Amino acid sequence: MTSTPSNNPAAPVITIDGPSGAGKGTVAQSLADQLGFHLLDSGAVYRAAAIIALKASADISSETSVLAALDTFQATFHPQGTDGVRVKIGDEDVTGELRTQQTAEIASQIAVMQAVRAALLDEQRSFRQSPGLVADGRDMGTVVFPDAQLKVFLTASVQERAERRAKQLKQKGIETTMRTLVAEIESRDQRDSTREHAPLVAAEGALYIDSSSLSIDQVVDQIVTAAKLVT
Ligand code: C5P
Repeated sequence: MTSTPSNNPAAPVITIDGPSGAGKGTVAQSLADQLGFHLLDSGAVYRAAAIIALKASADISSETSVLAALDTFQATFHPQGTDGVRVKIGDEDVTGELRTQQTAEIASQIAVMQAVRAALLDEQRSFRQSPGLVADGRDMGTVVFPDAQLKVFLTASVQERAERRAKQLKQKGIETTMRTLVAEIESRDQRDSTREHAPLVAAEGALYIDSSSLSIDQVVDQIVTAAKLVT
């Protein structure tokens, strides 16, 4: 993957890190809209890398093979406001593939590889543009934007996250059991938070929010209030 080298290190950044299903994506989108900031969905960058690896028939267990695949194809990200981001690999629109369980699983597997994480750094940092950026992911405040003006760690109970995921899947006509969802979430959490490189941990000084019993608006309000104090 190649990046657009036009980032602006002076632009303010708000990072939102946390496990999948905590509501980071929706909160980050709403926050970016309110503040008129750009948005980085870093999970989409990892997912695009996973699709590239698949398309190149890379050996997912080999860092060298995955890296070679990333050099072969270029992903481009086209923000669509509240509709999230459209992703193209070369000329091919892969947005549909981005949200599948298989893509998430492979993204999580290649995300443990230090060289892969390093290869995706510039791409993510290139989203830092005036007037500012809201970046959501796992290591936004700890690794990618350690100088962010405000760092948030957003989480929710496993049960609540599984229920939210079940609702999303049902809307797409996909039936699954709570037991399966809880197991998938626990296994991904375990891998993300215990990996050696850039594990999912709250950044020092992060504002910690448990969204289990909060609405999206309540979470966004808390962050906007905190942002006013620091920007
Ligand atoms: O957030 P999302 O579910 O789209 O991310 C997919 C996977 O990409 C995560 O499970 C995680 O392993 C990886 N990821 C990461 N660091 C990020 C964002 C995502 O390791 N900043």
